[in-house]
Amino acid sequence: MRSRVILGAALLALAGALILAPSLAAGPGDPIVAARQASMKEMAAAARAIAEMFDGKRAYEPAAFKAAADTLSARVAALTGEFPRGTLGAPSAAKPEIDQARQEFEALARHIGRLADALAIKAQNAPPGITADMRMTGPPMDGGSLLGKRPGAAEADPADMPAEHLLHLILQDCASCHAKFRRKVE
Ligand code: HEC
Repeated sequence: MRSRVILGAALLALAGALILAPSLAAGPGDPIVAARQASMKEMAAAARAIAEMFDGKRAYEPAAFKAAADTLSARVAALTGEFPRGTLGAPSAAKPEIDQARQEFEALARHIGRLADALAIKAQNAPPGITADMRMTGPPMDGGSLLGKRPGAAEADPADMPAEHLLHLILQDCASCHAKFRRKVE
């Protein structure tokens, strides 16, 4: 009688383990997934802070601008390592396609990394108030065709771009990566 109870409990535990096992790769509790989602949220908060300073929705503070730009560049630099195989697909919003298109994914991460680094360097010497040369002149141009004049010309050096322009190009990169590699979740 007693042994049957024990056996029953053991079977239940085993069944539970079998049900749980397949989701352990990228379960809701996966620390890798949780860490990158937290990292993305930090990036979003930093990008929003900078955007609001430039839009006049939040007081511009050189120290706050610098802190947000540093966060952006640090978080973006970690991006490529945050999506290892086995952590992609539901319930995470990271598409399994990341694994089939690693080069493209990493190129995007490098591109946004260069922009975020350039922004962080500019923020290091941020003036006490937003100056005209920090402002974007004209609409943000596509990151891949910044020069636009000569086909095949090298992309403009991010170091030469106003901070606001860099921010817009960074936001474009967030959107491009999400469009391709992030599953929409309600
Ligand atoms: C190279 C690709 C890539 C870039 C660049 C990128 N993201 Fe993401 N982002 C993802 C993927 C993939 C996910 C889904 C992660 C998951 O659920 O595991 C995601 C998720 C998010 C989330 C949701 C996090 C959550 O709580 O689930 C936010 C917010 C976010 N990104 C903001 C940003 C912002 C802001 C930027 C730009 C500064 C950015 N991302 C740049 C790929 C990228």
